[in-house]
Amino acid sequence: MKKKIAIVAGGDSGEYGISIKSGGVVRNTIDPEKFEAFLIQIKGKDWYYEKDGQKYQINKNDFSLNFENETIRFDAVFCAIHGTPGENGKLPAYFEMLSIPCTSSDSITSALTFNKNFCNRVVASWGVNVANSLQFYNDGTATQQKILASLTLPLFVKPNCGGSSVGMSKVNNAEELDAAIKIAFAEDSQILIEEYVPGRELTCGVLQSKNQMTVFPVVEVVSKKEFFDYEAKYNPALSEEIIPAPIPTNLEIKIKETSAFLYKKLNCKGVVRFDYIYSAKNRKLFFLEVNTVPGLTTESIVPKMAREMGISLQELFTLLIEDAIWRMEKN
Ligand SMILES: Nc1ncnc2c1ncn2[C@@H]1O[C@H](COP(=O)(O)OP(=O)(O)O)[C@@H](O)[C@H]1O
Ligand SMILES: [Mg+2]
Repeated sequence: MKKKIAIVAGGDSGEYGISIKSGGVVRNTIDPEKFEAFLIQIKGKDWYYEKDGQKYQINKNDFSLNFENETIRFDAVFCAIHGTPGENGKLPAYFEMLSIPCTSSDSITSALTFNKNFCNRVVASWGVNVANSLQFYNDGTATQQKILASLTLPLFVKPNCGGSSVGMSKVNNAEELDAAIKIAFAEDSQILIEEYVPGRELTCGVLQSKNQMTVFPVVEVVSKKEFFDYEAKYNPALSEEIIPAPIPTNLEIKIKETSAFLYKKLNCKGVVRFDYIYSAKNRKLFFLEVNTVPGLTTESIVPKMAREMGISLQELFTLLIEDAIWRMEKN
C-alpha cells in the first residue's frame, strides 16, 4: 500500500510564499509509485487540503483529513514550512505528541536553531566562530549608543527568528541604524545585531537518512546585491551559486567537517543547510546560521547540491520520508 504523506506548507511568516512554492515542488516531484501525497496548507488556524476549489479542513485532534467519505490518517508529514510554525519546532512538537513521523529535525533542535542568537551561543561554545553580536527584545534598549559602544560598523540587523533575509539590513553608518532596527522589529519581537563579516559566502548541505550521512558539495553564493538578500535569493539573475565552490581543498574539508560536526552536535535530522562566511583576511570560517527546513524551490540551493551529488529531487524526498518513518519505528 502506498504511504499517505501530508506535505505541510505555508505558515505564518514572511516566507509563506516560498514555502508554498517548496511544497508545490515536493507534491509535483514525490514518487507516485511509493506515496500518495496531500498538500496541506497551514495559515493561522486554517489547516486545509484543497481540491477542485473546495477546502477540506484538517481535524487538529489527530491531524486526520475527512475527504471523499474517508478519514485519511497520514503515515508521515513532509515539513516544507520555513519559519513559523514549521522550522521553529511548533509543528514538529505537535507531530511528536501525535507520534506522526515528520521529515524535519525534532522540536528542541528546531526551536534552538531557529533562534539565531541562542544557536550562535551554543555553536560558539563548541569552538566555531560566530560574528560579534548583541541581541535585543523590543523594550527600547536597542539604542545607538549601546550598540556602537560594543560593536563596530558595518553591522547586520536581523530579526532573531527569521529567514530568507526578510527584515534584514546591512547598516554602513550610524544614521541608518534606527531605521534598520525598526524594520527588523516589524518581523520579530527580538532582533540580532551582528558585526559584518567581510568575505566569501559559502553554504553546505548535510543529509542523513537511516543513520547514513551525506555531506553535499560546498556552494559559493555570489550575490549581485550588497548581500544575499530576499531579491538575490529568489531572482536567479541577481545571484550566482557556484557548485562546487572554487575554494582550496583544506577550506572545503574544514567546511564539510564543521557541517557534519554541527549536524551531529545539534542533533539535526533530514536535510539541513549551514551558511558561513569565510574571512580571507584572518583566515577564519564564521558560522552564520543553520536552515533546518531549507528551501526546495527551483531557485533553492539544496536541490542543486543534491543534483550535483547525483541524487534526484525525487530520490531526496524518498530518503527524507523513509528516514522519518524509520526514526519513529526505531523509537
Ligand atoms: N554577520 C554577517 N556578515 C556578513 N554578511 C551577513 C552577516 N549576516 C548575514 N549576512 C548576509 O545576509 C544573508 C542572510 O543572513 P542569514 O543570517 O543567513 O539569515 P536568513 O535566515 O534570512 O538567511 C546572508 O546570506 C549573508 O549574505
Ligand atoms: Mg541564510
